[in-house]
Amino acid sequence: MAGIVIVGAQWGDEGKGKVVDLLAERADLVIRFQGGNNAGHTIVRDGVSWKFHLIPSGILYPGKLCAIGNGVVIDPKVLTDELDQLRAKGIDLSGLRISANAHLIMPYHMLLDHAGETKLGKLQIGTTRRGIGPCYADKAARLGIRMQDLLDEKILRKKIYTALAPKQLMLRPFAKDPELDLHTMTEEYRILGHRLEAYIADTPPIAWRALDRDGLVLFEGAQGALLDIDHGTYPFVTSSNTVAGAACAGAGVGPRALDEVWGIAKAYATRVGAGPFPTELEEPLGEQIREAGGEFGTTTGRPRRTGWLDLVALRYATRINGLTGIVLTKLDVLTGIDPLHVGVRYLGPEGATFDEFPYHQSIVHKVNGDLIELPGWHEDISGVRSLDELPANAQAYLDFIADYLGIPIVMVGVGPARDEMIWTGAAERLKPAAA
Ligand code: IMP
Repeated sequence: MAGIVIVGAQWGDEGKGKVVDLLAERADLVIRFQGGNNAGHTIVRDGVSWKFHLIPSGILYPGKLCAIGNGVVIDPKVLTDELDQLRAKGIDLSGLRISANAHLIMPYHMLLDHAGETKLGKLQIGTTRRGIGPCYADKAARLGIRMQDLLDEKILRKKIYTALAPKQLMLRPFAKDPELDLHTMTEEYRILGHRLEAYIADTPPIAWRALDRDGLVLFEGAQGALLDIDHGTYPFVTSSNTVAGAACAGAGVGPRALDEVWGIAKAYATRVGAGPFPTELEEPLGEQIREAGGEFGTTTGRPRRTGWLDLVALRYATRINGLTGIVLTKLDVLTGIDPLHVGVRYLGPEGATFDEFPYHQSIVHKVNGDLIELPGWHEDISGVRSLDELPANAQAYLDFIADYLGIPIVMVGVGPARDEMIWTGAAERLKPAAA
């Protein structure tokens, strides 16, 4: 087993950070391949809670090779702040590498993200307003500024000059003086470039070398399958491909480098921002799960919408990612909720039913999950470390999911701490020594 892709199998926030952090102990390289600081994850280590937005989750292991791949969009201010915080706490950052080809989020991208949402009014996507969409748009339009541009002031100034003019026009209706000054911006980014220079690298060869040595490479995804720009609930999606296939383009490796693809899913479902959510829960149960699961955004602090596990969407995620295993997180949050429900198909208007995830946006917006009832459990499961120690109803819940999806469950989260995890099947031999 060499390359393992870790992707979100729902709407993001599934707990990928914790899983990557745990697997990272045995990894030779962790590389992020898409998204930006719209992502955010919290890792709890020895009672200390760490929040990351850009830096790969393996960074807490001293000297661990952790790369930010070319497919990621980087706000250099956020990155330098994150590095400062880690340095202040004595974390060894010598293993960090940042792709020279990664695109940069510029001040105008954030202004455009705000302006775009304002313009949409009630129809807004509910973006994180971090400039992600406009940055990827500039990348596709060949107007992007890349990490390597920071290292050459002349090129940087020229590229900002070219990129800036259309932005000033676009932003004019929203702000008379949008503070987009070429000189100030070039200077600010040049300085940020100096601060990041030591970490800027050609990242694909780092991955090739690790793979050639049969090392373990973790490809760390952000967001989740239903937020994928092609396969998600467009336009209520993020602006990158979040599926496992994107690991290749976003890290610079071929598909044969990917040996396992593990989808992370919560034992229930959450979504932040607008868009369809067929198994969304009504209050007060929705609120109960939100509180029990601490379902508030790491990046924006927004309360997450909560719902029952949607197996139609999860099976779709299994197919579009080619998942070989499921990591089910936060099973403990469901303790005490009895009965439980899971969505096994969708019910549409006029008695229509859908066994598969519908491609048509109007249908996805109108369907509700056809829920089946499964018995819950009441025992505290946070101390359980093997599947057969789980209460019978919790085991039956997991079996139902694995049977429906046709793939094994390889890890099960039973609490927020590092060791509160059940390791099984293909994951068992990757268990960290301390867990
Ligand atoms: P953007 O990625 O900021 O453009 O936001 C687009 C959509 O993706 C919005 O619905 C966001 O709430 C959602 N989104 C982006 N990143 C994350 C994430 O890390 N977790 C959950 N939702 C996200």
